[in-house]
Amino acid sequence: MVKAIVYNSETGFTKEYAEMLSNKINVPCYTLKEAKEKLNRQDEIVYLAWICAGVIKSVNKVRNKYKVKCYGAVGAFPKDDNYIETLTKSNGLENDKLFYLRGGINFGKLKGYKKFIVKIVGNVLEKNNEGKEGSEELIRLFNEGASFVDSKNLNEMMEYMKK
Ligand SMILES: Cc1cc2nc3c(=O)[nH]c(=O)nc-3n(C[C@H](O)[C@H](O)[C@H](O)COP(=O)(O)O)c2cc1C
Repeated sequence: MVKAIVYNSETGFTKEYAEMLSNKINVPCYTLKEAKEKLNRQDEIVYLAWICAGVIKSVNKVRNKYKVKCYGAVGAFPKDDNYIETLTKSNGLENDKLFYLRGGINFGKLKGYKKFIVKIVGNVLEKNNEGKEGSEELIRLFNEGASFVDSKNLNEMMEYMKK
């Protein structure tokens, strides 16, 4: 039985998903630090974390410590099967279950080099996608920020958890 949702959030989007899921399935949610105190090794958890340059934060740490029912990766890009496959492979989750949850960009909470990197990605997207259909939303996201957090995005994960 899943004992808790453990999460790693830099600017708050993953935290929002963790709290939503916690309310929906009635299990507590903890940051990694809180989990250290509240959980035992091999307790069953759901792990949610933000994606930084293709890396789902702290996956290895969590995998070695807890029994992970499933993972949720929170990123800024639109949900796409190919992207989920790439994330699965590059994070070594081929034998696990990974869901993608779209977060957003919050410039107000980004600091230092991270803010700088996101701005650069925005500029590159703008240059490479000039005039291309459907790219405006992505360019605006990386230039101004936006949130795509939606409780519906958790439905697939919740269905899986019932099994
Ligand atoms: C330095 C940096 C690198 C990022 N790399 C990716 C990425 O590779 N793929 C992606 O989908 N989103 C990427 N993002 C966007 C974050 O994953 C997104 O903002 C996420 O919602 C953050 O969640 P949080 O608010 O819980 O920290 C990146 C953001 C930053 C700041």
